[in-house]
Amino acid sequence: MMPKCAVVVLIGGNGSNLQALIDSATLATHARLVGVISHRADAYGLARAKSANIATTVVPHVDFASREAFEDALHQAVENFKPDLILLAGFMRVLSNDFVNHYEGKLLNIHPALLPKFKGLNTHQRALAAGEKEHGASVHFVTGELDGGPIIAQVPVAVLPEDDEHTLASRVLQAEHWLYPQVVTWFSQNRLKCTQNIVTLDDKRLPPQGQQLSLPTMKGIVS
Ligand code: GRF
Repeated sequence: MMPKCAVVVLIGGNGSNLQALIDSATLATHARLVGVISHRADAYGLARAKSANIATTVVPHVDFASREAFEDALHQAVENFKPDLILLAGFMRVLSNDFVNHYEGKLLNIHPALLPKFKGLNTHQRALAAGEKEHGASVHFVTGELDGGPIIAQVPVAVLPEDDEHTLASRVLQAEHWLYPQVVTWFSQNRLKCTQNIVTLDDKRLPPQGQQLSLPTMKGIVS
């Protein structure tokens, strides 16, 4: 049997995506969550990690005088876990090209929008303001461009006439909780690759907006 993929999750807040990764039985057969690193000491995700017996490290960005110093410490914290894959899940710091390039092909992010639309913050508010009929979630490989790396997969979420930013955000988050474990499972099974910004799944090149998936159910919500 192949050794399990060692995964480190970088968080900064609630950690509901981390919880979805912890709870995925399918993922657990292919991957091991070896560590959780937070850039905030008060991130609730740290408690989720501890309950699941996952080692945690806090690298508080506020304690560092420069981004370089912060990233040196972060790099060390990541290396301590010897990961095969690093996941950003609500990690709210922009990472430099140097950091990102070092982990080329093994650093993923989840973003609450159908990229390349609505990079950055306040995606739900902006999708509503733009009158979008469809919004959603994307998982992508991380490059130096914020939310701009090659897209692996997306789940669309219909925008309802009565939606406000909170109702929409909560349905997109449910989609995220389904999508991230799915994509991480592919990676852990060695099926997902990214070389020179070209993403392949089972040796087939994915379309520019990644594999389009649809949410099978809205059950099993992680809040
Ligand atoms: C998610 O919407 C994720 O896409 C974005 O930040 C949020 C993190 O939520 N990058 P959580 O901490 O996983 O609950």
